[in-house]
Amino acid sequence: MSLLIKNGRIVTAEQNYVGDIFIEKEKISLIGMSLNMEADSVIDAKGKYVIPGGIDVHTHLDMPFGGTTSADDFLTGTKAAAFGGTTSIIDFAIQAKGTRMRDGLDTWMKKADGKAVIDYGFHMIITDLPEAHLEDMSDMVREGVTSFKLFMAYPNVLMVDDSTIFSALKHTAKTGALVCMHAENGNVIDQIVKQAVADGKTAPIYHALTRPTTAEGEAVNRAIALSELAGVPIYIVHLSCNDALEKIDEARDKGLPAFAETCVQYLFLSLDDMGKPGFEDAKLVFSPPLREKWNQEKLWAGLKKNSLQIVSTDHCPFRFKDQKQLGVESFTKIPNGGPGIENRMQMMFDGGVNEKRISLNRWVEITSTAPAKMFGMYPRKGTIAPGSDADIVIWDPNKEHIISAKTHHMAVDYSMFEGRKVKGNVETVISRGEIVIQNEKFLGKAGRGNFIKRGTFGAAWS
Ligand code: URP
Ligand code: ZN
Ligand code: ZN
Repeated sequence: MSLLIKNGRIVTAEQNYVGDIFIEKEKISLIGMSLNMEADSVIDAKGKYVIPGGIDVHTHLDMPFGGTTSADDFLTGTKAAAFGGTTSIIDFAIQAKGTRMRDGLDTWMKKADGKAVIDYGFHMIITDLPEAHLEDMSDMVREGVTSFKLFMAYPNVLMVDDSTIFSALKHTAKTGALVCMHAENGNVIDQIVKQAVADGKTAPIYHALTRPTTAEGEAVNRAIALSELAGVPIYIVHLSCNDALEKIDEARDKGLPAFAETCVQYLFLSLDDMGKPGFEDAKLVFSPPLREKWNQEKLWAGLKKNSLQIVSTDHCPFRFKDQKQLGVESFTKIPNGGPGIENRMQMMFDGGVNEKRISLNRWVEITSTAPAKMFGMYPRKGTIAPGSDADIVIWDPNKEHIISAKTHHMAVDYSMFEGRKVKGNVETVISRGEIVIQNEKFLGKAGRGNFIKRGTFGAAWS
């Protein structure tokens, strides 16, 4: 199968020019002006942007959490991703306490197999790390699972102590893998939560009010210090506030390899969106929580100056009608997480590029190129170049769309951005040379997505 995309404005992290792209056997084989190759299909992309497919490096599909399982599996979640212009994800496999990482990886491989419609990789969540199992980390790297998530939050569930964190960090020095940190001080938050519950403060908004920004800032600072002691890089996930961002800035000013992502929800939603009557606020319960609105401009500034390198979603959807309801008596029982995999590219284009907060190139960089580089997929993914996978989105900058649970493809009964009008949306989505979305129709098939055996962080940035 070959495909010729003609006359589009090709936008990468560095470039912006009009040209044609010839695709053969899943790869980009030629880029030029007025290409006249014979192709099985031809798309005229005049007036459209032609960008590398989005890469969302933080998703939780089919994940058991908070007494239930996230609502999107690898079929519905990756389909929704494709509708939003994302052609690769990195999801999280979990090593359950007392088990081996390989068991976790096998379990998550089975979840994705036969279902994923776009390519996917895995980070491995480490929940314990006895000395005897340290080499599991090397096994994972050999399998292409080159990043590990550790939690400083969720005591008695996913949280690990500083000693475990330090062991994992030291091990990455041997392999070039990257530790991704959920940085919130779980023990302190636990005490604050217990006090709130004892005071009868059980409504959903208390989830946010019991997780102060200082608890995130402290944990980010500690994570950076531990990585400095181990002599390795660190990547902070879902950074939500200025207190945490300042710690990243301090570290980077010292020349330390400290990196961080923020998520769409922290850039567009705040505590001002909470305080709704009844149980409505449960829709916005995730960790870290929403912050005071002034933090948003700090995060945008952080993206602009590259203190923050990536925007992901932390897509972890739970239906309002029967899953979020688990916490109707107390916010402590609300499954933490929100849906966003489908809206990332639209929100970042409309709220970022159209609002002139970031350039077109930077939009591509933070949603595709930097994710590919950070997580060992570049230049196979994250760019438009001969030899790269033909993961391409044809983006109509003038197409208007109203985000709504009534029309979205995520298997969840609400949208965090319900009713928001965005300008700029997907026209065609190509995954490894195959058109998977066209004219708002899904043309791919379940199971066509491949596992991405990733390289290491070190190799990607060298
Ligand atoms: O609330 C969240 N973020 N849920 C997903 C799990 C995590 O911490 O990333
Ligand atoms: Zn997390
Ligand atoms: Zn997450």
